[in-house]
Formats: sequence, C-alpha cells, structure tokens
Amino acid sequence: MLAYLCCVLIFLTVHLSTIQCELTPNDVKTVLQQCQKNLNTSHELDKNDKLLLANWTAEFQMKQVNITSHYRLEMTRHREHNFKKVNLNTKWKECLRLHNKEIRNSKRSYFEREAECLKAANSADRDRTRAVKQVEKEIKKWRKSYKYLSNLCDVDNPGDKETADRCLAEYVRRDNYDSTFERLILLKLETMSDLLDQMNRCLNELEDCLRSSFSDNLQSIRAVMNILGQCYNRNREN
Ligand SMILES: *[C@@H]1O[C@H](CO)[C@@H](O)[C@H](O)[C@H]1NC(C)=O
Ligand SMILES: *[C@@H]1O[C@H](CO)[C@@H](O)[C@H](O)[C@H]1NC(C)=O
Ligand SMILES: *[C@@H]1O[C@H](CO)[C@@H](O)[C@H](O)[C@H]1NC(C)=O
Repeated sequence: MLAYLCCVLIFLTVHLSTIQCELTPNDVKTVLQQCQKNLNTSHELDKNDKLLLANWTAEFQMKQVNITSHYRLEMTRHREHNFKKVNLNTKWKECLRLHNKEIRNSKRSYFEREAECLKAANSADRDRTRAVKQVEKEIKKWRKSYKYLSNLCDVDNPGDKETADRCLAEYVRRDNYDSTFERLILLKLETMSDLLDQMNRCLNELEDCLRSSFSDNLQSIRAVMNILGQCYNRNREN
C-alpha cells in the first residue's frame, strides 16, 4: 500500500509539474469552486432523493393495497352473491356441498393470479430502485476519490495550500473529473425520474393484471354455476 502510494505521489508530482503552468490561480479557484458546488449539490440531492424515495415507496404500497383490495372485494361480492346458501333449499345446499371443491378451486385460482400480479409489480419496481442505488454508489465513489486526491495533494505539499489546490485542480482538469461528476448527477436525476415512471407503470400494469384475473374469475364462477345448475336440476328430478 505504501509502495503504491509512493508511486502515485511520484507520478502525480512528475505529471503535474509538466502541466502546472497551464492553470492560472484564477482557474484553480474556478475549478475547485465548481467541484465544491457539485459536491454540495450531490449531498443536497442525496438528502432530497432519500425523502422522495421514502414518499414514493409509501405511496406505491398504499396504492397497491388500494387496487388489490378493490378487486378482492369485488371478487368476494360476486362469490357471495352466487354461492350463498339461499332459501335454505336443501337440494341447492346439497349441490354446493357436492361441488365444494370446484368452488374452492375457483377462489384459490384468483388468489394465485393475484399473487403473480403483485410479484410482477414489485420485481419491476425493485429493478428500477437498483438502478438508482447503483448511480448513488458511483457518486459516493467519486466523492471518495476526490477526497483521496485532495489528501494526496495536501500530503505532497505540506503547509502550502496554494500548491496543494493547484495540484488538485490540475488533477481534476486533466481527467475531466468535474464533468464526470456532473454527468453522474444528471444520471441520478434521470434514474429517479425513470423510477417514478416505472412505479406508475407498475401500478397501471397491476390494475390491468388484477382486472383480467377478476374477469377470468367471473368466467370460472359462471362455469361452476352451470355445474351447480345441472346438479340442481338432476336433484329436483329425482
Ligand atoms: C458548500 O457547503 C458548505 C457547507 O455546507 C459551504 O460552506 C460552502 O460555501 C458551499 N460551497 C458552495 C460552492 O456552494
Ligand atoms: C408524499 O408527498 C406528497 C406531496 O408532497 C404528499 O401529499 C403525500 O401525503 C406524501 N405521502 C406519504 C405517504 O408520505
Ligand atoms: C383507491 O382506489 C379508488 C378506486 O379503486 C380510488 O377512487 C381512490 O382514489 C384510491 N385511493 C388512493 C389513496 O389511491
């Protein structure tokens, strides 16, 4: 590690001494101020995005519960309407008992479809959150390496702030460090906006998915009702 550090120091010293003349003291000030501004922006952004993410996640879950319970209630309402033990009619009740398995299966198939819909909605959302976290990690890495270089320049120029600043500014300028950082900040804004789009898309897809599960469940209730009707007619003839 120490050997590596020495190599970097020597490299920086040799390298920077060859291009030092290109930056005026004013340039140094501008470059470092821009970096400081970007650092501040990125910290602000992190704080703000964290609050936004918490809010979006809470809203997303609330809406997800809302949509899910809406269709579940509809489904239950239709089942109760169709399969209730009406009129204490013993022949009808007998058929309900005989075909209890079909009745239960149609309910189970709705819950299975519902689980699939929720799983799809949540996994797409997780993928987008992962993209945001990835950019966040890159920004942290940038801040860390900036701090590392700043320390390196300080170590290389003990007590000489002007030369240390110049060293840092040269390094930033040479590797387009500042524009890389600006691109990362923009990327973070983009991935956040993508995430919100994705969350809304997920909710729309969840609604479509549950609506179609519900409509298939109505078909299945109708099919079971046909079976019950045939059973009832047979019972009545006997
Ligand atoms: C960055 O923030 C620090 C404290 O949070 C402040 O002292 C400094 O002036 C800010 N720099 C810029 C360029 O905004
Ligand atoms: C999210 O933010 C909006 C707008 O600021 C607010 O109306 C809403 O109540 C917040 N939701 C949650 C769950 O905090
Ligand atoms: C819940 O869903 C209903 C319709 O399904 C809608 O009218 C209502 O605004 C929703 N509430 C929230 C908090 O999303």
